Amino acid sequence: MSIADCRIIDLPIIKDPRGNLTFVESNNQIPFGIERVYYLYDVPGGSERGGHAHKGLSQFIIAMSGSFDVVLDDGKNKKRVHLNRSFQGLYVCPMMWRELDNFSSHSVCMVLASQKYDEADYYRDYGEFMRARWGT
Ligand code: TYD
Repeated sequence: MSIADCRIIDLPIIKDPRGNLTFVESNNQIPFGIERVYYLYDVPGGSERGGHAHKGLSQFIIAMSGSFDVVLDDGKNKKRVHLNRSFQGLYVCPMMWRELDNFSSHSVCMVLASQKYDEADYYRDYGEFMRARWGT
């Protein structure tokens, strides 16, 4: 899996004058089954989240409200993705260092995850991540 696999996915929109509706299903719009949902909210201005990689976890990140940036880094290539639509999300494959910043006020970051929380699945040390990813 490379940084090119980490991409924005457009979700279906059921347009309706009463309000639009968007949905996500396991292994349908996104390439994994959903085992966990978590969300970040009440994020103070200037905060940075993330700063880690996952060994096996796939994630799909949606700006449910407001906006923020996700910086992806595979150790060789980096890209910054701005999320600001509740009908789009960013697929993040395993073994990808990520940082989240540039949160707008009242932003809500919802994350769909392929596995339950497991601290053993994290690389929280960038050097350790680099050694595991590239052997350097
Ligand atoms: P972390 O994944 O480091 O947050 P972020 O990437 O948004 O900066 O998690 C922060 C803390 O919350 C850490 O102590 C683990 C805990 N946590 C859970 O207990 N369950 C979860 O599903 C998540 C995502 C985190």
